[in-house]
Amino acid sequence: MNSPRPAGTLVLTCVLLVLAACRGGGSKAPADPPAAPVILRFEADPNPVEAGSPVTLRAEFTGGKGALDPGLGAIASGQALAFVPLGDTSVVLTVTSPSGQVRSEAVKVQVKPSPDFEDPASFTVPPCLQLGEAPDRPDRLGLMWHAPAYDTGTWAVEVRTTGTWVRMADPASTLVDIPGTQVPAQRAWTAVLKPLEPGGTFDYRVLRDGRRVFQVNGARARMAPGQRQRVVIAGDLVEPGNPASRSIAEGIAAQKPDLMLAVGDLSYPHGTYQEYRAHFYPTYNGGPAPFMRSRLMVGILGNHDVAHVDRGAPPPLGSLAYYYCWDQPLNGPGLLQGGHVANLSPAQAWAPFRQAAGARYPAMGNFWFDSGDARFVVLDSNRYMHRDDPALRHWVETALDGAPAGFWRIVLYHHPGFNQSSFKHTNDWHMAQLWPVLQRHRVDLVVNGHLHAYARTRPFTLAPGGVDEAHILPDLAYDGAATTKAAGPIQIITGAGGGISHKNRFRVPAKGPKPFHQALIADRHSFSVLDLDRDRLRFRQMDGAGAVLDQFTLTR
Ligand SMILES: [Fe+2]
Repeated sequence: MNSPRPAGTLVLTCVLLVLAACRGGGSKAPADPPAAPVILRFEADPNPVEAGSPVTLRAEFTGGKGALDPGLGAIASGQALAFVPLGDTSVVLTVTSPSGQVRSEAVKVQVKPSPDFEDPASFTVPPCLQLGEAPDRPDRLGLMWHAPAYDTGTWAVEVRTTGTWVRMADPASTLVDIPGTQVPAQRAWTAVLKPLEPGGTFDYRVLRDGRRVFQVNGARARMAPGQRQRVVIAGDLVEPGNPASRSIAEGIAAQKPDLMLAVGDLSYPHGTYQEYRAHFYPTYNGGPAPFMRSRLMVGILGNHDVAHVDRGAPPPLGSLAYYYCWDQPLNGPGLLQGGHVANLSPAQAWAPFRQAAGARYPAMGNFWFDSGDARFVVLDSNRYMHRDDPALRHWVETALDGAPAGFWRIVLYHHPGFNQSSFKHTNDWHMAQLWPVLQRHRVDLVVNGHLHAYARTRPFTLAPGGVDEAHILPDLAYDGAATTKAAGPIQIITGAGGGISHKNRFRVPAKGPKPFHQALIADRHSFSVLDLDRDRLRFRQMDGAGAVLDQFTLTR
């Protein structure tokens, strides 16, 4: 009677041992199938929502990471996320498991008219602050929005800096009707907001036929001399489908900068109007961090913003949208005859673009403006520019020398002139030719993108006789902490703002860092934060989560 029990126990033990070995990973038995995502709840409240009011989205799910489209970004299970819909909106929750399994669910948010807030569905680009055409007037800003061309309503803008709403001058518009892009004809509207209290906040609202369709409270005015300011700089920003683009945008918004400078390659892959609408605006003027409607962002041309134009190849339809998606100073060199612009031919094919861009093309590629105690000089560094043209150099010199006494001088262009890495990047180092001008006119910082990484040089000047690495004279005494006065400009590359990573190519050369090397971080996305006083510039490079990757200080 007792004999079967030991045998059975032995068999059971063996089975258990085999099962345990299987779970240990050493067996050929099939593993448990990965858990599929499950959406338990996804709802919007209130729904319908009154125009101009926020709606709260709540999601509960298991088995993966959640994301909300269009353009609302990541959401965790149990999290509530608020946004203001611009008209009826289908919001899609997508949960993706680690093994790639996907579950989706949609909720349609309906917008109903409110007593004093008309359904704002007619916006195709919601209002965003612009630098406008007053480069040295901290009491002014521009405002831009796009709406369908068939909309014949009368637009107006009002501003409130104290208790009373003040009507601004009538907005102006250009027609954006680019055949073949599948985008119906639009009007790009601009208004001038003035007078604003420098360094203060203000409210503004956009009215259509006398009814409010859009309102922002707490927008930031520009900074005047003597006012401390926080400036964020990042390049190579919005790449379709790359989650880093959004996480960097949210990280930037979390720093609450007074001003953001986008140093080229703004909307991948070609800077077309379609890409601006589908990717750029949802990232920087929509979703949970609609930065551009309450903080000033300044756009700078990169090679992707001029599509293939910089290399003479036919560009895709809707390209060069920079020239009607931004409203910035037209105080550039005006060198329109010397090959400083893309060759847009045949002329007839480009007529719709020229109508949309108006006077902004090509003048808006180069300009200067002041903010706080700094003069920013912005250059188009694409290949069609003639960097050794005496007239262009004269304009750069004039723009720098025109800075009021004691101002920081910061120059921004997309293509860096010097390469401290082992990455050649197809010989795009032509901007080195301008360095002697910059060092002679006491530039403090040169900020670039193009390489999808962060890199910092020592302060340096060039010895006479060449503009290559062999002539670099690095300031070896400067350390940015104990010694903060620099002999020569510092070159910053801050092109890790959301595009594909260059970490496998942009690295310190195997034989050791070059003499002008100071820092290089290519294995993560990041952006630059400058806290600027009149006598002190504090620089930090941060990742999307707010961790400081590098920092230094400059003083007079
Ligand atoms: Fe680039």
